[in-house]
Amino acid sequence: VLAADGALRDEMEAALRGLRQSPPAYFASDLREALQAAASRDPQWIVLELGTDVRLLRTAAQELALAAPSASLVAAWNDEPLASDVASSAPLIEAVRCGVRDFLRRPISSTELDDLLQRLDRAGPRTAVPPGTARGGLYAFISNKGGVGKSTLAVNAACALARRHPQRVLLVDASLQLGVCAAMLDLQPRTTLADAAAERDRLDTTLLRQLASAHRCGLDLLAAPPDAVAAARIDDELLARVLTLARRCYDYVVVDTFPVLDRLVTTLLDAVDRAYVVMDNLVPTLLGAARLLTLLAELGLSPQRIRLVLNRYRRGAGRLSRIDAANYLQRPIDLLVPSSERLVQSVNTGQPYALSAGRWRALGRALQRLADDLEQAASAGASPGS
Ligand SMILES: Nc1ncnc2c1ncn2[C@@H]1O[C@H](COP(=O)(O)OP(=O)(O)OP(=O)(O)O)[C@@H](O)[C@H]1O
Ligand SMILES: [Mg+2]
Repeated sequence: VLAADGALRDEMEAALRGLRQSPPAYFASDLREALQAAASRDPQWIVLELGTDVRLLRTAAQELALAAPSASLVAAWNDEPLASDVASSAPLIEAVRCGVRDFLRRPISSTELDDLLQRLDRAGPRTAVPPGTARGGLYAFISNKGGVGKSTLAVNAACALARRHPQRVLLVDASLQLGVCAAMLDLQPRTTLADAAAERDRLDTTLLRQLASAHRCGLDLLAAPPDAVAAARIDDELLARVLTLARRCYDYVVVDTFPVLDRLVTTLLDAVDRAYVVMDNLVPTLLGAARLLTLLAELGLSPQRIRLVLNRYRRGAGRLSRIDAANYLQRPIDLLVPSSERLVQSVNTGQPYALSAGRWRALGRALQRLADDLEQAASAGASPGS
């Protein structure tokens, strides 16, 4: 929302709060800030104010359309000043000429906003997606407990996918404090996310591809920064930009995360097609996972965008069965990955199991099913907010 006027921001925030499920929204107070946010966040809709000066609107509309080519423009208008104008409909007509797709009458009400979002959803993207702006699928492996197997599964799922789609899969190691993906792949990256932060002003799809390290299986890795000092330079705005660019040049973007729900992870969750919640079948982990699911619902992530993965699955005293776990979380477990020493060995030797396993082994089959699920999410075209 480009709102130079504080009143528009307040109205919009109140209207968003009144929605049953409000989409994530970002506010900018001038065009420069809006262009930056549009380029990083790749929004679906951009709301701007419609004043009487049509030239200002034209400039804003043109530049925003370049920064976020798949966004639909919506103009918020106040009919009072327009009505006093002789040709009151002129600015509206001109706005349509500038590419504005729909209008919101101020003061904005939740009902009107809800109607608008439904109209825009039904109408679909602005145009056939312009060349170079197609969106690859975005997948995150998350948990609120450490050591449950996020990195192991993210690396293996990404490798299995890359084997099917060489050079079309990017793994982003956003586990900033302690990135392990490079080690799991036996790669020594020369550049990392820290370089993306250092070059943030000239970051584009070409540079992003150059910053990634290629693995022999066809996977590209954007590695975590080498140390905590470099990690501190990576903020949510940069991650949003990296992910937006990554989706323009890869079909699949898989993200490994650190087990905290900070701004970085919430930025990621705003945009994901699917979040894989990883857990093991121990009571304390499931207790935590139940809490995480509540939080995800509060963040507006619909159940269709969540997959529950029971990893390191083992039977034994104090361990719950798949059914017990499902009852505990009040939804079925989508994927089950057995506990296996082979997986631990493969992690330690930097040879991902998914690349060596035959489909006949239970572990190999489980990892391929995980890759199938990512592939299926991409072909279903699950989009954020759906
Ligand atoms: N299915 C499995 N069977 C056996 N061991 C596993 C399995 N999955 C993961 N592990 C082991 O569990 C340990 C933790 O895995 P991993 O580092 O992937 O967890 P994580 O959730 O990424 O941890 P962190 O929260 O610290 O990032 C590793 O030693 C890994 O080899
Ligand atoms: Mg990890």
